[in-house]
Amino acid sequence: MAPYALHGNVAVITLDNPPVNGLGHALRTSIVDGVNAAQDDASVAAIVLIGAGKAFSGGADIREFNTPKMFAEPTLHTVLKTIEASGKPVVAGIHAVAMGGGLELALSCHFRVAVPGAQIALPEVKLGLLPGAGGTQRLPRVVGLETALNMIVTGNPVPSEKLAGTALFDEMIQGDLLPGALAFAQKVVTEKRPLKLVRSLPVKHPNPEGFLGFARNTVAAVAKNFPAPVACVDALEAAATLPFEQGSVRERELFTKLMNTPESKALRHAFFAERAASKIPDVPEDTPVRDIKRAAVIGAGTMGGGIAMNFANAGIPVTVLEMKPEALDKGLGTIRKNYENTMKKGRLTPEKFEQRLGLIKGTLDYDDIANADIVIEAVFEDMGVKQQVFEKLDHVMKPGAILASNTSTLDVDQIAAFTKRPQDVIGTHFFSPANVMKLLEIVRGKATAKDALATTMKLSKTIKKTGVVAGVCDGFIGNRMLEQYLRQAMFLVEEGALPQDVDRAMEKFGMAMGPFRMSDMAGLDVGWYIRKRRYVEKPNMKYSRWIDRICEMGRFGQKTGAGIYKYEAGKRDAIPDPQITELVTAYSKELGVERRKISDTEIVERCVYALVNEGAKILEEGIALRASDIDLVYLTGYGFPLHRGGPMLYADMQGLVNVVAAMRRFGKNPHGDPKFWEPAPLLAKLAAEGKTFN
Ligand SMILES: NC(=O)c1ccc[n+]([C@@H]2O[C@H](COP(=O)([O-])OP(=O)(O)OC[C@H]3O[C@@H](n4cnc5c(N)ncnc54)[C@H](O)[C@@H]3O)[C@@H](O)[C@H]2O)c1
Repeated sequence: MAPYALHGNVAVITLDNPPVNGLGHALRTSIVDGVNAAQDDASVAAIVLIGAGKAFSGGADIREFNTPKMFAEPTLHTVLKTIEASGKPVVAGIHAVAMGGGLELALSCHFRVAVPGAQIALPEVKLGLLPGAGGTQRLPRVVGLETALNMIVTGNPVPSEKLAGTALFDEMIQGDLLPGALAFAQKVVTEKRPLKLVRSLPVKHPNPEGFLGFARNTVAAVAKNFPAPVACVDALEAAATLPFEQGSVRERELFTKLMNTPESKALRHAFFAERAASKIPDVPEDTPVRDIKRAAVIGAGTMGGGIAMNFANAGIPVTVLEMKPEALDKGLGTIRKNYENTMKKGRLTPEKFEQRLGLIKGTLDYDDIANADIVIEAVFEDMGVKQQVFEKLDHVMKPGAILASNTSTLDVDQIAAFTKRPQDVIGTHFFSPANVMKLLEIVRGKATAKDALATTMKLSKTIKKTGVVAGVCDGFIGNRMLEQYLRQAMFLVEEGALPQDVDRAMEKFGMAMGPFRMSDMAGLDVGWYIRKRRYVEKPNMKYSRWIDRICEMGRFGQKTGAGIYKYEAGKRDAIPDPQITELVTAYSKELGVERRKISDTEIVERCVYALVNEGAKILEEGIALRASDIDLVYLTGYGFPLHRGGPMLYADMQGLVNVVAAMRRFGKNPHGDPKFWEPAPLLAKLAAEGKTFN
């Protein structure tokens, strides 16, 4: 884990725990052993700590998170104390990455040298925490209060050369690190330099109170729902105003407090959810993947254009196929305009602009795409049209090409059956705008080959999407849950809330957009079309139909200048419309419902628990592999508030018993739908056993 070797009179301890030398228990133990061995060896005059491979150290070993090993002795604190207590100089030699606990480790050493280009960071705030092993106390002592505050509050890395003039580094090494670090250690020995401890340095600042007061206000305004950034300021205040030991106690208190906040739990959950999502139980990680060097997209409409941009952004040439030249020109024109806008905002250089456009070709001829390694179909949402396209693809595409469909509602297995190679067919459900939204639902058909799935999963990373596997069903994970959420939002309006009340409550809860503003943006005709199908397919399912009346008036939302809200020409601000208030009031009256005031709490509970109950069914049916996948879908595709960690984690944090109790209460509502509120068997079972989804 941390091999120990003698180079003359210098002992070299090499951190070796791939991939980033995470400070797991075994590594911590061997660092302590190494430092102690060096004390006992009279021939050793100095110690160099260095990292093997791709990092000095990336900090805590995330594989140990939530395990007893994380807190087992020697803890990181013990390691730091051992180093500080060394009677022989300890020099940290830093390359590539010194982050979190890795940087805190280096800060406990007597000296630090680094090569340029190393990423230096304390990123704990990104998990809703603060550096808990002295980082908030030691960093300001070497880089100054302001730089430390910026680094700790944002968590962003700073390249080592930018910190070169500070007391963080005693020397910058040009050339190879190990010989440079050894030479530096030799110098320390020869010159008999006194052992320096960062803890003994003062935090220098002309006016710490003034600066921190200003910083606290600014940070609080930006941090909004997250307590960690302000706690980081508090810890830095302790560094600036208290002796080191007392400051460290304060850091510990703040760390422990943050560890127990729902916001930090949510951020850590999202972090692990992202990692878990790429694991598919029956598709091992070493499953061979197919090479994706060329791509094709069928249809240059709203989705096709955005999908093509994803490939070009990742440097993969892509050919877009349309039926008619006008449609093709229009689609390619939109792509160009999108890139031009990005360039105008200064987020794309003219070279990159040309390069990306150069990767996108248009065609009307299937022969031009036959060679692509993957083709994504994004034509009209109509089974007949999909059939035509997939039969053609089956005919022309080279063997082994992945045939993907961007359908949002159609059966991927049925689409696969249009080909003689259903093993190569898969769903890739992008979200609009496809070049911006992170989420990609990857729909695994019953015949989809494992390597086709593994390849698509890998591709999602290449094009910088969050890939989540979903089984085949109507609406997959996200839209299937959304339907129940919207149904419930409509019932709330029928019973007494106004659309703007529901949106305000949900936005206060943290949703990026309330359900009705969102519906107006997406276009009310989309949902109307689906509901009309439902009325026939499921005549017993209860629906509130007031939005249908709005649709009957030709009000389809933003695109027609009016929907549930009204809009001023050219603007997107949703303005509550008295005409709609009248419409819903009349609708309630017709149903014989006496409208009542509905609290924000009830609005939030009913909307979110509608998501949770459908989520439980999706989990039970195996449509989602794990609860955290569902959360990830909602965090990355539906604007669910990150600080709440997704609907399933939110339910867990409320206590599933309480969720079920609330659902039973809603079921008894005289205007409610007892069937809607029947807890999914999995939810009822977990609640009864006192368990959680996650
Ligand atoms: N719009 C969304 O928000 C969204 C989100 C996720 C998924 N989807 C799905 O993506 C698909 C495309 O949706 P869209 O919104 O981009 O539609 P769109 O109407 O904007 O674009 C469809 C394009 O396909 C072209 N086309 C139709 N038939 C074709 C054929 N046989 N060969 C080649 N081109 C053909 C049309 O000319 C048009 O340009 C649908 O399956 C839809 O359900 C849409």
